[in-house]
Amino acid sequence: MTESQLTTVMEAVPEPMLHIDGQGTIQATNAAARALLGEWILGRSYAAVLRQPGLLGRIEAVQAEGQAGEARFELADSAGGIQFRVRISVLPEQGGRDRTSGARWPILLHFTDITHLREAEEMRRDFVANVSHELRTPLTAVLGFIETLRGPAKEDAAARDRFLSIMEDEARRMNRLVSDLLSLSRVEAAERMRPSDIVDLGAVLDGVIAAMRPAAEENGNTVELLRDGLARPDDDRLRALIHGDRDQLMQVFLNLTENALKYGGPNKPVTVRILREEGSASLKGPVIRVDVIDRGDGIDAQHIPRLTERFYRVDTHRSRAMGGTGLGLAIVKHIVNRHRGRLRIASEKGRGSTFSVLFPEA
Ligand SMILES: Nc1ncnc2c1ncn2[C@@H]1O[C@H](COP(=O)(O)OP(=O)(O)OP(=O)(O)O)[C@@H](O)[C@H]1O
Ligand SMILES: [Mg+2]
Repeated sequence: MTESQLTTVMEAVPEPMLHIDGQGTIQATNAAARALLGEWILGRSYAAVLRQPGLLGRIEAVQAEGQAGEARFELADSAGGIQFRVRISVLPEQGGRDRTSGARWPILLHFTDITHLREAEEMRRDFVANVSHELRTPLTAVLGFIETLRGPAKEDAAARDRFLSIMEDEARRMNRLVSDLLSLSRVEAAERMRPSDIVDLGAVLDGVIAAMRPAAEENGNTVELLRDGLARPDDDRLRALIHGDRDQLMQVFLNLTENALKYGGPNKPVTVRILREEGSASLKGPVIRVDVIDRGDGIDAQHIPRLTERFYRVDTHRSRAMGGTGLGLAIVKHIVNRHRGRLRIASEKGRGSTFSVLFPEA
């Protein structure tokens, strides 16, 4: 291949590439490489351009031995750095002439951005660590009580009952965690498939309120549904129709209402409001909006962007004590994404929080 053919091929590759000759001079670049490293690099020594000892060492070795290699290259930027994997391959010498011994091989560098791979890897690691941690606590408790029941509490009927009921709570917690994890992975798997059924959101909310009411009243609380001129099942113009998956929508509003009751506190009525509005820049056309409003302590602004992360809890101890796994809002977010909707969280310290879900109207 001639030099100009090589350059043509390199220009066709979307990732950054460099051609370095036996003297260590950069002989050719492509547009991506110039965008990454600067326009000035053509004709310079690679050592002056790349400047990272790990990569320079690998290039040195490949040029000396004629064996392809691989290295990392990191570029600092405002968003915390871009990571590249650099493949170093050896070029056959031009014209196939014999190499004088000790001469260095010309090489090609090919950069692949692996930043997102690293991030995905880190997320996976964190996830496994989190799940293990969440399971270990109840497991340790159950194992501890089994030991106590076999030993010191063997003949103590009252203690046995108490321990068994704690063990049941802990086992239920593990059960809930596992089913939340399963439901999260199911939703994630289907996230690209937009639901095609037509669902009346007003009817879904009726079901949610009916399901939550007994638990609310048990804690001296109320939960009411406010229809702002919407969601009257007897009148078609007032129905709130969206493309949706009924069960998943139910899960969204059960989770949000449960949170509002749980974190709102006793004697703080919860309001669910449904209305139709004009969309905005991020969600055009007519929109059905549901607000789940509590009158609790509210949430500090710093936490709000992170609430939908798996296992993220403002007060881990409090959430755990109430049987929470910290997956509720992560599930909500994925379901809303699948429905091409938006989740908005507004909160004022001391006054309460509003979780709003917006869906494009069918
Ligand atoms: N209405 C709310 N008011 C105040 N804080 C809230 C509210 N909703 C959620 N949070 C905070 O967000 C965290 C994450 O909520 P999420 O529903 O994901 O998990 P959880 O309620 O702790 O557990 P799970 O829903 O799995 O039972 C909660 O632990 C709580 O700190
Ligand atoms: Mg929750």
